[in-house]
Amino acid sequence: MRVVTSIVEMQAESDRIRADGRRLALVPTMGSLHEGHLELVRSARRLADHVTVTIFVNPTQFGPGEDFERYPRDLGADLALLSGDAAADLVFAPTVSEMYPEPPLTWVDVERLPDRLCGARRPGHFRGVATVVAKLLSACRPHVAVFGLKDAQQFFVLRRMARDLNLGVELVGVDTVREPDGLALSSRNRYLAPEERTQAVVLSKAVFEARDRILAGETDVAGLERGMRDRIVSASLARIDYAEIVEAETLQPVTTVEPGTTVLAAVAAWFGTARLIDNRIVRAPG
Ligand code: PAF
Repeated sequence: MRVVTSIVEMQAESDRIRADGRRLALVPTMGSLHEGHLELVRSARRLADHVTVTIFVNPTQFGPGEDFERYPRDLGADLALLSGDAAADLVFAPTVSEMYPEPPLTWVDVERLPDRLCGARRPGHFRGVATVVAKLLSACRPHVAVFGLKDAQQFFVLRRMARDLNLGVELVGVDTVREPDGLALSSRNRYLAPEERTQAVVLSKAVFEARDRILAGETDVAGLERGMRDRIVSASLARIDYAEIVEAETLQPVTTVEPGTTVLAAVAAWFGTARLIDNRIVRAPG
């Protein structure tokens, strides 16, 4: 497995692969890899002949006071994981100065989709995400890029960006990988103290309960959101951030889950210093 740190070298390598007629998949990550990321790599492998994984903790998507400095970084451990059964062909691991040699004057701003959920709580976050993913796509030139649906809002933002900018890349979302008790895998789970870890399971319970109620025919969004909120605050260590149901794809608010429509039931809460998120994309019966 090759490790490339320079954008020019990465572009040349991708051009070579494309010229060979091979299909190229990209899995963008911030490292600190876990089984959820490895599942993305396996999915990418099924979609393409060559898999590049990017490892870059992107400063422009962290707000002031967020965890950019302490975000876990261990390139050696990540490379070891990517040499196992979920093997990457190439890892692109640029430095911050390679990606941002000067403060950027050009940003990718997707409108509307970031207005709610995490975007409403983390101003500028999705601008940073969209900008760095556009830069990673232009460095790695994949045919297909694979993202985890734990960050469903991020996926919808990026898919819209790719469509609006005619980037010529297909974006594929892969379902969340979970611990046996249901907790969504996240690099930030390692911030949790043991009791916080035990209680954090309320997040998955909240979204799965909402899903089950929608599948059983419940349509009242206020009631469904109250149910998710009640489940989260039943954990004494949880500080709820949001519990919302929005239309999937547009991420616009809804008051009723109309039959046959698809909604996103999404939650976020703090446990100690860890802000965790979870969601379910649910198609209502009918
Ligand atoms: O989901 C992530 O890990 C990051 O937001 C991404 C897509 C790699 C951009 O930095």
